[in-house]
Amino acid sequence: MRKPFIMGNWKMFKTTKEAVAFAEEFKKLYQSSDVVAGVCAPFTQLAALKDAFKGTDIKVGAQNMHFEENGAFTGEISADMLNELGIEYCVIGHSERRQYFNETDETVNKKLHTAFKHNIIPILCVGEVLEERDAGKEFDVVKTQTVGALKDLIAEQVSALIIAYEPVWAIGTGRTASPEQANEMCGYIRTVIEELYSDEVSEKVIIQYGGSVKPANASELMNMEEIDGALVGGASLVPADFIEIVNF
Ligand code: G3P
Repeated sequence: MRKPFIMGNWKMFKTTKEAVAFAEEFKKLYQSSDVVAGVCAPFTQLAALKDAFKGTDIKVGAQNMHFEENGAFTGEISADMLNELGIEYCVIGHSERRQYFNETDETVNKKLHTAFKHNIIPILCVGEVLEERDAGKEFDVVKTQTVGALKDLIAEQVSALIIAYEPVWAIGTGRTASPEQANEMCGYIRTVIEELYSDEVSEKVIIQYGGSVKPANASELMNMEEIDGALVGGASLVPADFIEIVNF
């Protein structure tokens, strides 16, 4: 009943010219199916990508937004600004933002509230670092991040949410969580949602895996029961690779 949701996260890659070239190539390869697919791009490419994907069902998302409506926040982008471009999705709380830009569970929570207020579907990222997994704390860490992020959100909002489980040790390292490890954590996140809300809500929320997803491992990961799709970094930059993942 949950449609697989496969999103590229381009991070700080591609100029607008390169993004449009990707879109033209990807459109030729893409065939509409039961998989929801799209890319989360840097802000400067969003308008051009919306235009390039017009008439297709390929989605375009942002990678961050501020929680305030507007104000003196030099260098930031608001939800209104994303709304104006018709952006439906936004990655929130990616580990790179937690690590390099001081994002906390509290700011992530504020961003989720603002995103929902503006009808932007958040792709909430959670995941442990290697030392936490080695210390056997991965479930506690992911639970704390999930509970903190969802504070005061209502069931209707959480039903529409996308969560990406991204173990930090598997991001850009070529080291992938095994399908069993990824499945176990995605299932665990679903039980956390069930405890916080209900079985019905937990069955609706899309839970992706992210961390070195490639054409070679996509099908095995995507076919795990609890994994509803992928948030793909490096392999989403090349149309021929990304389409293989989308067509897992
Ligand atoms: O958000 C996607 C991500 O962090 C994984 O990146 O390059 O390991 O696929 P990558």
